[in-house]
Amino acid sequence: MPNATVLVVDDEPLIRWSLVNRLKEAGYRTLEAGTAGEAVALHRDGADLLLLDVALPDADGLSVLKQVKETDPDTLVIMLTANIDVGTAVEAMKSGAFHYASKPFDLDEVMLLVEKALETTQLRREVRVLRARQAQPYGASSIVGESAPIKAVRALLEKIGVSPASTVLLSGESGTGKDLAAKVLHYSSARASKPFMNITCSALPETLLESELFGHERGAFTGADRQKRGLIESADGGTVFLDEIGEMVPMLQAKLLRFLEEKSFKRVGGAQDVKVDVRVVAATNRSLQDEVKKGHFREDLFYRLNVMSVVLPPLRERTEDVPLLISHYIDSFNTEFRKKIRGVAPAAMTALQAYSWRGNVRELRNAVERAMLLAEGNELTESHFPMLSAGDGELTTAMGLPIEGINLEALERSLVVQALERCGWNQTKAATLLGLNRVG
Ligand SMILES: Nc1ncnc2c1ncn2[C@@H]1O[C@H](COP(=O)(O)OP(=O)(O)O)[C@@H](O)[C@H]1O
Ligand SMILES: [Mg+2]
Repeated sequence: MPNATVLVVDDEPLIRWSLVNRLKEAGYRTLEAGTAGEAVALHRDGADLLLLDVALPDADGLSVLKQVKETDPDTLVIMLTANIDVGTAVEAMKSGAFHYASKPFDLDEVMLLVEKALETTQLRREVRVLRARQAQPYGASSIVGESAPIKAVRALLEKIGVSPASTVLLSGESGTGKDLAAKVLHYSSARASKPFMNITCSALPETLLESELFGHERGAFTGADRQKRGLIESADGGTVFLDEIGEMVPMLQAKLLRFLEEKSFKRVGGAQDVKVDVRVVAATNRSLQDEVKKGHFREDLFYRLNVMSVVLPPLRERTEDVPLLISHYIDSFNTEFRKKIRGVAPAAMTALQAYSWRGNVRELRNAVERAMLLAEGNELTESHFPMLSAGDGELTTAMGLPIEGINLEALERSLVVQALERCGWNQTKAATLLGLNRVG
């Protein structure tokens, strides 16, 4: 562990001096204290390890050990005992000392102990971070953002999470966090210890999707040589996440609706009703309401799903979250790539906040990942985000259709007026801006 700070506590200056010298040679930062009082005060300023004499003028080294461990249980302590005093050594170990060395000690041996001890702190810290992550893999706090719309989403998810209501519809553009929200719902619910099953409705042909979801009996179709439980059955007690529900064919929509209403279904080729208790969370990146109007989606299923509806806002409508998300991903990629990026240059941050983020948080995450792989210094600048300088011409083809749809006529009118105004009502120039006179 390079850069670790070692605090040497001994009232004998010569011992301190020899230890400090040797530690510095090995590349450690060092602090020195001659009394228990100094030791406790210096430890608060941050020391990873203490070499602690048992006999100090103002107090017993053991009491320093106890105080230090109380302030920061991760601090390692190696006790230095004057002669082989087994009782003290045992008590020190019980109070959390890592080890002890008896005076007169061998410097090499002490250095070896220091090295070993520091390795364990590093490990212990890493383990703690991992445990925390595991314990709360998808708590509501994993949804980053402090904008009003995202706060509302977080609050709503927490509320629905603990409510017994069984069906939830998540809508939002691609990359806005629908998968994440589904997991937050599951892991913040009483169902958390039961399975979370997830399937993308557009990924499979309809017959396969049906048997994946509902299972099948032996002999239900060619190749069905034994009975198979579907996802819904396997998720009993837990949550089934149906992604891209808008892509589900009408036959399956009907079967799903029946299941939502009756809480039971028949496996493909089966006659018996199978009863299960699952929460269905469905997600869509299109407006299901429009799909209903177009006759692609069953109205009754839409209303059944839409009882609890959470709309994930696009990132461009909550630009104040952009810096928070960026620093969240900088932290996480710093760990992953072992980098030390401190942040984004102010000019680049302004540009990033103004950027359209058509791919929402997913695009932002990928952009930060790419930037961090490219960056050599410790700051990200505009040059690390190539999409910021992509040609203007892209705008026309790249405008994402908002989930609530647009009024094309009004948009057209507004663009024409803007073009005319920008060109002082010169029609030819305005037509050029709008790309209308390329032929003539
Ligand atoms: N508010 C958020 N805070 C942190 N990460 C987010 C947030 N929203 C989305 N993400 C992350 O962005 C990526 C895309 O999110 P995802 O849930 O897969 O979107 P969707 O399912 O809507 O396409 C994932 O890596 C997800 O963890
Ligand atoms: Mg998704």
